[in-house]
Amino acid sequence: MLKFEEYLAKVNGAISAIPYPAEPSQLYQPIAYTMALGGKRLRPVLTLMACEAMGGEADAALNAAVGLELFHNFTLLHDDVMDKAAVRRGQPTVHRRWNENVAILSGDAMLTLATQYVARVDAAVLQPVLEVFNTTAMEIYEGQQWDMDYELRAEVTEADYIEMIRLKTSVLLGCACKVGAIIAGADEANANALYEVGQNLGLAFQLQDDVLDVWGDEATFGKEIGGDIMNNKKTYLLINALNRAQGDDLGELRRWITDEYAMRQEKVPAVRAIYERLGLRQLAQEAIAAYTQKALDGLAQVDMDDDARKEFAEFINRLVNRSK
Ligand code: IPE
Ligand code: IPE
Ligand code: MG
Ligand code: MG
Ligand code: MG
Repeated sequence: MLKFEEYLAKVNGAISAIPYPAEPSQLYQPIAYTMALGGKRLRPVLTLMACEAMGGEADAALNAAVGLELFHNFTLLHDDVMDKAAVRRGQPTVHRRWNENVAILSGDAMLTLATQYVARVDAAVLQPVLEVFNTTAMEIYEGQQWDMDYELRAEVTEADYIEMIRLKTSVLLGCACKVGAIIAGADEANANALYEVGQNLGLAFQLQDDVLDVWGDEATFGKEIGGDIMNNKKTYLLINALNRAQGDDLGELRRWITDEYAMRQEKVPAVRAIYERLGLRQLAQEAIAAYTQKALDGLAQVDMDDDARKEFAEFINRLVNRSK
């Protein structure tokens, strides 16, 4: 097994070699811009790691890994329009730097480019790879729609939230693991067990993203803090705040949620203070720890050597404590 940084170098090398036509520049420049801004590259690294852990050559999974990162970035272009987000990876989002039409169409082009790269796998595994990739893509769109629906829905349970983040975020981490395993020729039981690891990691990962959206440092996180609060996203934090708050806190929280004209500099610190009074940061950390443990426990169900298991465990633990 290689180290995280070595997989990352492979991924970044392949991403910087993606050729883009010069014209129409408004279609291709935003793609090059987005892909050059980096990000953590978790999904493609997972694919390469999974492939090697299951006995394959990492390079055999490189095109598919790049395809999954292109797909992830496509979802971000559209997500930033939907979430009215101005900043990503410390830079203006595509719909702000260009405009919404550019973000929509460049996103579409990224989706097709993603599929082209994913399809560049050995013909023997093309069908199962496309199967998991396409199923995952549809699930992500479903999750994104629930995420939007829940902004406006008063009654959202914790179970609804977990299913929503499973769909919008976790399945892609599961898919990244499974695609690597399939390319390595793993049997179905192992490929599915690794998918489960990725999925539980993804639940912990999205919970942590929600925590960082409230308490993160903008310079490190690379996104504007408080976006979820401004959008009334039914995060783990807001759902539990609505369940736990009483008296003045509940009244104040309800007023913030219904105030369409609330100022960012007032609403975000006020809602954050309510979360803090209710001990929700701690509660979220406990949920993150529980899903992380599930992911680690799941590793025991996969046939891989100890070196590979250690590498996966390190990857998982690194993500729990992240600040970006
Ligand atoms: C952002 O994903 C979208 C979520 C699922 C939270 P990442 O946090 O992996 O974004 P980058 O690619 O590192 O920028
Ligand atoms: C993103 O969830 C999920 C997808 C992009 C599919 P978020 O909306 O929380 O992601 P960020 O915080 O904007 O990266
Ligand atoms: Mg979103
Ligand atoms: Mg968003
Ligand atoms: Mg977020």
